[in-house]
Amino acid sequence: MPDYYRTLYRLTRPLLFRLDPERAHDRALGGLQRFRHLVPRQVVSAPVEVMGLTFTNPVGLAAGMDKNGDYLDGLGRLGFGFIELGTVTPRPQPGNPKPRLFRLPEAQALINRMGFNNRGMAYLLAQVARRRYAGIVGINIGKQATTPLDHAVDDYLSGLEQAYPLADYVTINISSPNTQGLRELQQQHALAGLLRPLKEAQTRLSDQYGRYVPLVVKVAPDLDAAAIDGIAGVLLAENMDGLIATNTTASRVGVTRLPHATQTGGLSGAPLTEQATAVVARFRQRLDGQLPIIASGGVMSAADAVAKYQAGAQLVQLYTGLVYHGPALVREVAMALQTTPAASIPTAST
Ligand SMILES: Cc1cc2nc3c(=O)[nH]c(=O)nc-3n(C[C@H](O)[C@H](O)[C@H](O)COP(=O)(O)O)c2cc1C
Repeated sequence: MPDYYRTLYRLTRPLLFRLDPERAHDRALGGLQRFRHLVPRQVVSAPVEVMGLTFTNPVGLAAGMDKNGDYLDGLGRLGFGFIELGTVTPRPQPGNPKPRLFRLPEAQALINRMGFNNRGMAYLLAQVARRRYAGIVGINIGKQATTPLDHAVDDYLSGLEQAYPLADYVTINISSPNTQGLRELQQQHALAGLLRPLKEAQTRLSDQYGRYVPLVVKVAPDLDAAAIDGIAGVLLAENMDGLIATNTTASRVGVTRLPHATQTGGLSGAPLTEQATAVVARFRQRLDGQLPIIASGGVMSAADAVAKYQAGAQLVQLYTGLVYHGPALVREVAMALQTTPAASIPTAST
């Protein structure tokens, strides 16, 4: 079975890499969705329980690959234990002008400035409602580009209220570098002001629907130790259910001389691996095992995923690794994590 996906990837990659990256994305995922009944299902059963949810395995698809839920069943064939849809905003929006996605193959990296292009919450929910995929579905919510930062909470509240009945968990994305000012919401005071009303809404919705949907916060990798400590304190104080570390980086370390390195946007893939793992490790110390961590950022191999586990993650997510290594990576990572013991909680240091 992994051979099937290795061969499929080896045959299709040269064709896809000849296309503009965004077109290649649409073709590959469109094909997968359309022909999903013809491709074998990759299965790795390695159940884990996190945030009160049972994941068939700890390997997820990171947000941004399926922003609208268009490819959910096709992606489900690849064996993910969970799939995070979005980022979705309350209303549809076009995102930034194209081109807005760039490959840096020499570094196994991407730069994107998509800007939350999506078809809006109502469309996404219709896709989720008719899915066959039986795994965990997260819905990642953001704010409209036109909403001023001091009204951001209105968009997140609207997103949470609408997504609640159909989501297994909801991610609050405050770390995209491509929506002006968004990352400022990570500052301690702003973060508490955003998360408190969301937590209140979650409590109310949980009573209303008789079901508790965990709230997860997704952060950037470009945080110093003091910023991480501040965020960790707010997450604990506001009783969040989980953390995703990390989104793409504003840094260009390791790619400076490569074509496209000067493009505006977030960098993902291999150059991000160590930086994102270090952020996981610091959060692990500060959260003291009280909040689960979902690791995202440069998981390009089974060894990278094992390193995230050892740094303190309970689940991992893939995006750029799929572009450079294909769907066989899902199974390889899930198999490797099956035999990796979770990290012990390190004692806090400064
Ligand atoms: C083209 C592209 C679009 C993305 N869109 C989103 C998004 O809408 N919301 C989000 O939270 N993260 C988004 N991400 C970030 C990924 O979810 C992931 O956190 C990041 O790329 C690091 O993981 P990776 O190195 O495995 O790609 C996007 C990444 C890429 C490459």
